[in-house]
Amino acid sequence: MGLTRDFFIALSKNQLLNTGAKKWGLKLGASKVVAGTDIDSMMKSVKELNANGIGATIDNLGEFVYSKEEALHAKENILATLEAIQQRGVTAHMSIKLTQIGLDVDYKFCLENMREIVEAAARYAIFINIDMEDYSHLQQTMDILHELLKEYDNVGTVIQSYLYRSEKDLENLQNARLRLVKGAYKEIAEVSYQSKQDIDANFLKLIKIRLQQPGFTSIATHDHHIIDAVKKFVRENQIPRGRFEFQMLYGFRTDMQKELADEGFAFTTYVPFGQDWYGYYMRRLAERPQNINLALKSMVSK
Ligand code: FDA
Repeated sequence: MGLTRDFFIALSKNQLLNTGAKKWGLKLGASKVVAGTDIDSMMKSVKELNANGIGATIDNLGEFVYSKEEALHAKENILATLEAIQQRGVTAHMSIKLTQIGLDVDYKFCLENMREIVEAAARYAIFINIDMEDYSHLQQTMDILHELLKEYDNVGTVIQSYLYRSEKDLENLQNARLRLVKGAYKEIAEVSYQSKQDIDANFLKLIKIRLQQPGFTSIATHDHHIIDAVKKFVRENQIPRGRFEFQMLYGFRTDMQKELADEGFAFTTYVPFGQDWYGYYMRRLAERPQNINLALKSMVSK
């Protein structure tokens, strides 16, 4: 399991395959978890979710951006997606990775791109979530968020429960809108819990702290043990349902997504789309090796 995870994480970082995959279209079973390569096909999926009482957080996929030109191109795509959300009147906001809009190029350049995106989103009253990437980008991501929060309130980020520092980050972001997750990258023991037990225990601990803070919370997990524990905690502590929501990824546990929405919980599905689907898909295979069967089946049936 550890080896499989490492293997797919390594594949997700392979730049040659990432670049090649942009030309292939959705392959290897990726269409089960990626909502198309263009705005129109993605919007079709968002409307279906909305019809089931589920909102969307849309990720215009993009990785390995090391030039200003690529980062500006990604920013334009994000601005076009924001406009499409506004024009089509869907219930949706956006999730953005800072490396996509130039964090690996230049900090200030990335901040300016982000400011332009958050400003445009604020005009449409759309929230922007900054996805959290690997630990090497964390401090700069937090710095950019704190900078933006001085001017805007439609921006927030993600807290990864596998990191020791996350409890402190929660303390510093009490009023911001935050998504809590376990954490998707491979981090070293100096900075992060390594065992599933420790990560799960810290996830629940942080959720309980967070649900008593003022900011809106998205609890993003497919883990029914965590979801059941959250339901129990909010019931026992009379946490109003308007203060939090559950989130899952597009194509994962779709029955449970609908069930939670039908039970009256606010629910948002993370909807990735775009040509740059490969790295995202490999990380999902790393998390859940059962999906590999799906990928293999689709490879042999082609
Ligand atoms: P985990 O994978 O630990 O599964 C626990 C148990 O749940 C499994 O053993 C199984 O019993 C059950 N289960 C899980 N998936 C199932 C399935 N598909 N079908 C049936 N049973 C299943 N990470 C990050 O670092 N930065 C980020 O910005 C984000 N953003 C983000 C947004 C959203 C909406 C989600 C859902 C997740 C993220 N993540 C993330 C990823 C996150 O950190 C984490 O890696 C994955 O969600 C996997 O962990 P889970 O909590 O889902 O359960």
